[in-house]
Amino acid sequence: MIDFSSYDRVFLLTDEQVAKCCLPVVCSDLGTPISDVLVLPAGEQHKNLASVQRIWDWLFAQQATRSSLLINLGGGVICDMGGFAASTYMRGMAYINIPTTLLAMVDAGTGGKTGIDYTPMSEAGSTASLKNAIGVFAEPVDTIIRPELLSTLPAEELLSGYAEMIKHAVLQNPKTLAELLNYDLRQVATPDFGELIRRSVAFKQSVVEQDPHDKGRRQILNFGHTVGHAIEALLLEREQKSEVRNQKSAKPHGYCVMYGMVAEAYLSHMICGLPAEVVSTLNRFMLENYGTAPVTCNDFDALLRLMLHDKKNKEQGTIVCTLLQSVGQPVTGQTVTPEQLREAIEYLC
Ligand code: GLY
Repeated sequence: MIDFSSYDRVFLLTDEQVAKCCLPVVCSDLGTPISDVLVLPAGEQHKNLASVQRIWDWLFAQQATRSSLLINLGGGVICDMGGFAASTYMRGMAYINIPTTLLAMVDAGTGGKTGIDYTPMSEAGSTASLKNAIGVFAEPVDTIIRPELLSTLPAEELLSGYAEMIKHAVLQNPKTLAELLNYDLRQVATPDFGELIRRSVAFKQSVVEQDPHDKGRRQILNFGHTVGHAIEALLLEREQKSEVRNQKSAKPHGYCVMYGMVAEAYLSHMICGLPAEVVSTLNRFMLENYGTAPVTCNDFDALLRLMLHDKKNKEQGTIVCTLLQSVGQPVTGQTVTPEQLREAIEYLC
């Protein structure tokens, strides 16, 4: 339980979508009065400096102090951006997250990676921005997990978050992985599922505690993300270039992580001796729940270009991944050659 008495006032940040579905229920049993609420437009395109300025303007207008508390109620955008605005306001006020998507509950809501996307001044007006390029590490005072908020979430959103839970399980042990692979996903918003979420969050927290600033151990959390981010960026590029209006080719983040995990499990088999049956089990789970990866072998050059630009690579011209020796035994900093990657992408297609 949060001791609200240590704060002079409590403010709440949310977005238009969440305000409709979750704000009344969350406010009614929070256990503290809210001094004021700021509702921002929803969507990743608003995760920028202009929105942060709106949050700072609002906090100044409300005369929030360093002893005030900001509650971020929303998905990853609100948690990341609200955390950044709070931790830089007057050199830092406390904040808590109440994530409303499964992805935010198990990922963005904990770990203190706050920030916004960045468009350089010279490219003002362009839709391309550098994701999470500006930010600070600043842990929330607490993250409140309320599984009942998931009951209205579309299936696609749930699967997106579930992929990050699978990732945590792959990094933990075979028993947890088997439990998640066999879980009936229609049973979300139940106490049982709440317990699975809490264990997943506790695992992430234990990793973050060992390496809060992402210099070493925390990089195990990148499993699936080297290939996954490249697929995500490629699909987004395709959507932005598409001549057919409203043609949606982008996929939710977690879907791309799931595709990335299968490719990186295959690399793990080739490079680190991960047993082949782990690769085929993950592949089967992907095909049954997330469908085939929406890339073909013809996309290899474009994926390679995106992977070479990944900020996780320490040296130019190399591609670095977190791989697995076995379930529960990740190894960070594994250099992968383009030929090995081509084979993994071919496996995925
Ligand atoms: N999303 C991975 C991390 O927080 O490090």
